[in-house]
Parts: sequence; structure tokens; C-alpha cells
Amino acid sequence: MADEVSSATRENVVLVGFMGSGKSSIGRLLAKRLGFQFLDTDHLIIERAGMPISEIFTQQGEAAFRDLETSVLRSIMHLRRCVIATGGGAVIRGENRRLLHELGFVVGLSATEDVIYDRVRRNSKRPLLQTEDPKGTLCQLLDERRPLYEDAAHWTLDTTQLTHDDAVTEIIGAARRAFLWHHAA
Ligand code: S3P
Repeated sequence: MADEVSSATRENVVLVGFMGSGKSSIGRLLAKRLGFQFLDTDHLIIERAGMPISEIFTQQGEAAFRDLETSVLRSIMHLRRCVIATGGGAVIRGENRRLLHELGFVVGLSATEDVIYDRVRRNSKRPLLQTEDPKGTLCQLLDERRPLYEDAAHWTLDTTQLTHDDAVTEIIGAARRAFLWHHAA
């Protein structure tokens, strides 16, 4: 496929997955081991908007946040040899999924509902989970998005039983095959 050729040329590793699937922490470690730059699209959105994500949601609404998310993705297509962590909803729009595929080797991180809930429950920064029944909301969103993560990812890794270090080793192996790398990382 043409997008796989261009994503291999760019040599980026893009992490997609639900909130709490480990994109930022695994991504940081992965970048360190590869000697790549690490980028988090949520941080770029915050910089661009000049306010935290929760405020973008309350002041401008989710649609405005999604527009910012797409425009940030469009603006990073020139990057090479980066690890890019995305927000959990970056896969919702078809245009974003196409951009991510072009941007690099897209790794889908997954984990069981219980593990994800355990990771996100103590963090009040995620506006979509500020509901009366956060676990129910999480399960519903996860059901809706599972096919989208599968569609976006070139390869998927279940992190439920893995340490971050083991997850990084697995991702480097898969990236090496995808990019036909022969050097060690
Ligand atoms: C979102 C996930 C968040 C952030 C925003 C929306 C989502 O990122 O982009 O709150 O729709 O799942 P994380 O996955 O890094 O928490």
C-alpha cells in the first residue's frame, strides 16, 4: 500500500489507543531507547490553544477540540524519526486515521477495561470521563472505538501483562520489521 511506503520512509512510530493504554509513558521510553524525539499531540493542542484540554472542552466544546486535533496532525506530517503519542480520540475521524497511517508505523496499544479503569480513575484531567458513571462511560467509548483503533493501527500490542520496558522491546521489534531496519536499537 502506498501509505505504508511513505510511513516507512518517515520512520516515525505513532502510538494510538484508549486513555490509559500507556501511550505517553511507553512513548517516552520508546523514544529514549530509539534516540528519537518524543511528541505528544495533546501537548501540542494545549500549546496551540493556550489552555488545558479540560478548559477547551468546557469553553469551546468537543468539536473545537477535535478540529484542533486534526490541525495539529496536519501540521506534523513533515516529522522524521519521532515517537508520537496521540490522544485517545485521535482515531475518531477518518481523515485523522489516514494522516496517522501516512505519518508513520502506527502501533495500537490495548489493555483490558479493568486495567484501563484502574489507570484513569484517579486522574480528573480527562473531560470525557467526568460523568456519573465513569466506568460505564469508559466501557461504552471503548466498544465504540475498538474498530477504529484496529483500523488505524498497522500493528497492535496488548499491554495488560507487560512492563513498559517489555512493551518497548516488542514495539522496537515490530518497527524494525516494518522499516526493514538492520541496525540495533
Ligand atoms: C481523549 C483522550 C485524551 C485527550 C482528550 C480526549 C479521548 O488523551 O486527547 O481528553 O477522546 O479519548 P489521552 O488518551 O492521552 O488521555
